[in-house]
Amino acid sequence: MNKREFLRTAGGASLSLLFAPRDWAKYVAMRPEHLAEDESFWLTIRGKYRLKPDYINLESGYYSMQAQPVLEAFIAHVREINYEASYYLRTKQVPNKAAVRDELAKIAGCAPEELCITRNTTESLDTIIAGYDWKAGDEAVQCEQDYGHMLAHFRLQARRHGMINKLVSLPVDPKSDDEIVQLYANAITPRTRLLMVPHMVNITGQILPVKKIVDMAHSKRVDVMVDGAHAFAHFEYKIPNLGCEYYGASLHKWLGCPLGTGILYVRRDKIPSLWPMYGDWRMTDDTDIMKLNHTGTHPVHTDLAITNAIAFHNSIGGHRKEARLRYLQNYWTNKVRGMPNVVLYTPTEPARSCAIANVGIKGMNPTELAKQLLERDKIFTVGVDNGGVNGVRVTPHLFTQPKELDKLVAAISRYAKLA
Ligand SMILES: Cc1ncc(COP(=O)(O)O)c(C=O)c1O
Repeated sequence: MNKREFLRTAGGASLSLLFAPRDWAKYVAMRPEHLAEDESFWLTIRGKYRLKPDYINLESGYYSMQAQPVLEAFIAHVREINYEASYYLRTKQVPNKAAVRDELAKIAGCAPEELCITRNTTESLDTIIAGYDWKAGDEAVQCEQDYGHMLAHFRLQARRHGMINKLVSLPVDPKSDDEIVQLYANAITPRTRLLMVPHMVNITGQILPVKKIVDMAHSKRVDVMVDGAHAFAHFEYKIPNLGCEYYGASLHKWLGCPLGTGILYVRRDKIPSLWPMYGDWRMTDDTDIMKLNHTGTHPVHTDLAITNAIAFHNSIGGHRKEARLRYLQNYWTNKVRGMPNVVLYTPTEPARSCAIANVGIKGMNPTELAKQLLERDKIFTVGVDNGGVNGVRVTPHLFTQPKELDKLVAAISRYAKLA
């Protein structure tokens, strides 16, 4: 392969959308771990976002703003669809949405027929939880650190069908993958049908060894549904390689799509046995995942903007994005880990986390810490006081600069000294 071909196939062609040819050739030749520390590269990326000067935004975990090129494209879609109105809906919406699904399937690594576009992780996972044919006495396993609304939906199934939910609790800093696998294994009984596993715990940023959990569950004939709300387009993986039956994610988090975008993956063989939540008179084929996706008339311009977010994501490259996000998190956590009165709720091993981390100050309420950080230090985070965690969640993004994280470190060390 000559250099030109290498640059094209290794993502060079996409970086060229963002950089002048000379810079582009330099950056594409760098290893992602080295590029992660190259502030001139990331300053260009930062320039693609519109940032409020009032505070340092370290709360990208809830909603990651769209980059300006994506936002502008989104607004153009809104205008265009309003212009074509019913004509667009009757003639173009279905093939266009199918094309967007094809592109998403490439990132997910699955067949398009195993994927549908939803409005968010909640819709995706609740479609599975409520779509199961639960019988009284069936069991499902979740963890205390799972997202609360999904746990609530499992409790609704328990009230409605008499199924039983079992909760495990994840250690903050696991010694090994086996420790986590064993936790889930211990909760499985002959009545267990489904395990819900977070790919990344939203309150701590811990990444779970999903493939190993799935292998263990399958050895006991139990299906696995993965909550990938925070994982998709955050770090690199392909859904089918995890082996799970079901996977849900939000695209308005790490793919940088407009609000109200998500995906649901269902392994092909599992589609027929699921009950749809909404009826669709056209849907006579029980093996078609689209039977789970009747959302009525909906904001189709939002779906179209997914393509623009994918283009922006690809222009940077998923592996470069992952390396930068992990670098930023380690940049500040390495400085505060071990400080007196500071508690980190994120694993020590770098591979067990990426952008998200959580830090607490002994004796200080996390909501109060978040308030102080915003009011005194102009740093926006969110306090977390559940699942055994008492700290603020800190979520940098591609626009975050190390010097902003230095301000966070200075503030934490000041609060720690006062504790
Ligand atoms: C782990 C996890 N699962 C599910 C969700 C729900 O995501 P959404 O509100 O986009 O449906 C969230 C939201 O933050 C989350 O963190």
